[in-house]
Amino acid sequence: MTAPIIQIEKIKKMYELGGEKVVALHDITLSIQKGDFLSIIGPSGSGKSTFMNMIGCLDKPDSGTYYLDGKEVEKLKDSQLADIRNEKIGFIFQNFNLLPKLTAVENVELPLIYRGLRGTERREMAYEALAKVGLEDRGHHLPSQLSGGQQQRVAIARALAGNPPILLADEPTGALDSKTSKEILQIMKVLHEQGHTIILITHDLEVAKQASRVVQIQDGKLYENGGEWLANR
Ligand SMILES: Nc1ncnc2c1ncn2[C@@H]1O[C@H](COP(=O)(O)OP(=O)(O)OP(=O)(O)O)[C@@H](O)[C@H]1O
Ligand SMILES: [Mg+2]
Repeated sequence: MTAPIIQIEKIKKMYELGGEKVVALHDITLSIQKGDFLSIIGPSGSGKSTFMNMIGCLDKPDSGTYYLDGKEVEKLKDSQLADIRNEKIGFIFQNFNLLPKLTAVENVELPLIYRGLRGTERREMAYEALAKVGLEDRGHHLPSQLSGGQQQRVAIARALAGNPPILLADEPTGALDSKTSKEILQIMKVLHEQGHTIILITHDLEVAKQASRVVQIQDGKLYENGGEWLANR
């Protein structure tokens, strides 16, 4: 078997707020293979977003190790971390996080600017990504001129623009109605079939079940085959 694209060993994260300590992640160990479609399910406050921040190299654990595509994240300098994040991971958020004054295509171009791509090439790649989500005819629209589902599709195109192997989505359907949610999940399934590794974070069992592997997080602990909370749903 090849090495996992993500290998997390015993990571721990604590928050301290007003003298009180909250253990947000307890010794989490998880391996994700290239091409997996994994969902992480858990109730509000269980540590999902904290864990996503670790996987996405947006935050560092207090202890434990994280190998992203064979590289130990802890040992990377900030600039190397920014590069590996940009190259390996596309992010999708609940509230889309599009810049309101930029058009759809300009939003999709953002990660490509960070990669140093210019002009026509960049625009072509952005339009290719928009075409993958069926929005090539909406490139000139501002986010406010798009429906919620369309905004999330633009955000998916932005995540896809540099063709990163991993897509990391935190409640991508949380702000959408059920019909639009299904459309977004369908797009994610297609991207999985095309070879992307997908990590989908949700509190919704119906959404989680779309993945080929479901792990549960509860009180900062990870359960591979479903813990108490999942069993009671
Ligand atoms: N910056 C912070 N400072 C202190 N405590 C925090 C901080 N961020 C999160 N926490 C605490 O850590 C725990 C995990 O929070 P997290 O945001 O990861 O939960 P979540 O599973 O994403 O919840 P939700 O489904 O509501 O988004 C919670 O108890 C939360 O109150
Ligand atoms: Mg969250």
